[in-house]
Amino acid sequence: MQERIDSPHLNLLRNQIDITRVPFSDRGSRLMVRQEPGPCQLQIKLAERLIKLQPDIDAYRMRPPFVNELTLIDGEGEPLDFELETYPHELRFQTRVGRFGLVFQDRRTLAFGLPPGVSAGLRFYVEPQFWQETERGGLFKSVRNLVYTGNEELAYNQITPNTGGYIVECIASASDDGVIALTVDEDVDLHVDVPPYSASCQAAEMRWHKWFDGVPPVDERYRLTYMYAWWIMANNLISPQGRVTYEAMTPSKTSYIGLWLWDSAMHALAYRHVDPELARNQIRAMLAYQLPDGMLPDAVYDEGVISSIDHPIMAAVTKPPILAWMALKLHETAPDLDFLEEIYTSIVRWNAWWFSMNDDNLDGLVQYNHPYSSGLDDSPLWDFGMPVESPDLNTYLCVQMGSLAVMAEALGMPVESKMWRRRAAAIVHRMIEHFWDEDAGLFWPLLENKEPIRVVTPFSLYPLWTGQLPDHIRERLKGHLTNPDEFWGEYVIPTVARNDPRFEPGTMWRGPVWANINYFFIEALHQIGEHDLANTVRDKTLDLVMKETGIYEYYNAETGQPPPTAAGTFGWTAAVFIDLAIQASQISQASQEDDKDE
Ligand code: GLC
Repeated sequence: MQERIDSPHLNLLRNQIDITRVPFSDRGSRLMVRQEPGPCQLQIKLAERLIKLQPDIDAYRMRPPFVNELTLIDGEGEPLDFELETYPHELRFQTRVGRFGLVFQDRRTLAFGLPPGVSAGLRFYVEPQFWQETERGGLFKSVRNLVYTGNEELAYNQITPNTGGYIVECIASASDDGVIALTVDEDVDLHVDVPPYSASCQAAEMRWHKWFDGVPPVDERYRLTYMYAWWIMANNLISPQGRVTYEAMTPSKTSYIGLWLWDSAMHALAYRHVDPELARNQIRAMLAYQLPDGMLPDAVYDEGVISSIDHPIMAAVTKPPILAWMALKLHETAPDLDFLEEIYTSIVRWNAWWFSMNDDNLDGLVQYNHPYSSGLDDSPLWDFGMPVESPDLNTYLCVQMGSLAVMAEALGMPVESKMWRRRAAAIVHRMIEHFWDEDAGLFWPLLENKEPIRVVTPFSLYPLWTGQLPDHIRERLKGHLTNPDEFWGEYVIPTVARNDPRFEPGTMWRGPVWANINYFFIEALHQIGEHDLANTVRDKTLDLVMKETGIYEYYNAETGQPPPTAAGTFGWTAAVFIDLAIQASQISQASQEDDKDE
C-alpha cells in the first residue's frame, strides 16, 4: 500500500474532511461515505431523490443509509477500531492489523484496500432498499443493487438474514494488494472488474491532483479554504442520469439533492475559472427544462422536475432570474458568442414569463407568488401573505434586462439592445415611484393591497445594483448598509437588519449572513463606483468563511458560526469564496507589482 502522497494539494487537505460531518464522495458519484460520531463504523448513503418510491420531496434527507454499520474486521471476523486519516482522494484507516484504505474505483464503486500480509475483510448491514408494511402484508423494493467483489476469491463469505435486512461478512486471505469492492447502481453486472488497490488509489490520486492543479493561484492566506472549496466543487458534482442531462453540481450532496436554479448559476461562478464548458453546462442543465410558457423550474433531479410546491401555499415555484447575469460573467472570463446565442432566446422567454404571468395589477412591477421563488424561503418578508411585489425581484429583472442588452449588442441586434436598456431604465423608475419611502430612505416590498412590508432587510437596498439611482437615494441606501445598528459590523450583511424586531441571527433567511447575497452587494457596489466599500464586504466575507474548516450554507450574524441547521459542503458559498479569493489575490498581486515599479 502506498505511503507517500506527492501532491502538495492533497497533503494540504490532509484531515480537513471530517466524515462525521460531511460526505466523502467523488466527482460524478451519487455515493457518499459517512461515519456516525462514536463507533468505528461507516455508512454508505445515496445522493438521490427517489420520489417514485417516496413521493415526499424531502424524504431523501430522512432515508436510512443504503449500507449501514460497515465494520472493518480481521481474519477471525473480529471488529477493528481505527484511526482515520482523510484526503480528498482516499480515506486511510489505521487498525491493529495494519492499514485499510478506501477510494472510489469509479463513480459507482468503492474499493476497500486491505492491509498487506494478513487476512482481513468487511462486515456490513444492507436492507432491501425500501420496504413498508401494507394493510395486508408488506412491500419490498430494490431500485439500487449492490454487488461486492474481491479482487481474488474470498476466504470467507457469509450472508445472514437479520431484522429485515442482511448482514454480510466477507474476508479475503492474506495478499499484498487486496481489495473488496462495493458497487452500487441501478443496474449492476454481477461481474465487476476489480483492479489491485494500488492501481485504483493511484488513479484517484492523479485525478484529484489534476483537478487541484488546474485552479488559478491565490494568496497564501486563502489557500487552505480555497482548496477545500475546490474539493467541494468536484465532490458535489453528479454525472448525467435521468433528467440530469449534464454533469452538474448539487448544492450539497447530503442536504439538497438535484440541481437548483439559482444555485446552478452561482456554481458557474467558480467553474468559469477552470472549465468554462462545465460552467456553461450548469446553465444548460436548467434551461433544458424550460416550460412552454417560458418558466424555469425550481429544481431538476434524476426522477423529475420541481415547478410547483404545495407548502406553505400551492403555487408555481422558480428561483430569482440571475442566469443572464451569470452568463455574462462567464463570457467575461471565457468569451463565447455561440453560447450567448444559444441561450439568448430562452432568457428572453424567461424574462417574458415574469412580466406576463407575475404582474396581477399590471403596474409593470413583478411579484413573487410563492415564497420559495424568492430563494429566501422563510424570510419575514413573506410572513404577511403572498403575492408580494418586491425590490429584490425587480432589481434582478433590471439586471437581467441590462444583461440581455449586452448580449443583444454582442449578437448584432442594436435595436433590440436599445429596447432592453429602455426597459431596464423604466423598471428603475417604477421602483422609485412605487417602493421608495423618502422618510425611511428604503425601498419597501408591497402586499397586494399596496401596503408596504416594513421589515428592514438588505433587499430594501437592492436597487443599488441597478446602477441607475439618483444620487440622494444612493447615499441614503449606503447609509443604511454601513449603519452598525442595521447591517454593518464584523459579520456582514445580515439578511434582516440587526435592529429589526424580526431579526433572528441564526434562523435561515431571518438574519444569518449568506455568501450569495454578499456577492450581489459586492457587484452592486462596484457597479456604482464604491470600490473600497465593495472590497471591505469582500474581505469580511472571505474572513467569515475562513473561520471554519468546513464551508456552510449560512452563518450566524452575531457569532459568525454556522448554525446546526446550515448545510455543510455548500456549493454557492464555496463558489463565492473561490471567486472572491481570486479577485482579492489579483488585486493584491497587482498592487505588489505597482510597488515594485515605483
Ligand atoms: C434553500 C434556499 C434556496 C436554495 C436551496 C438550495 O431552499 O433557501 O435559496 O436555492 O436551498 O440550495
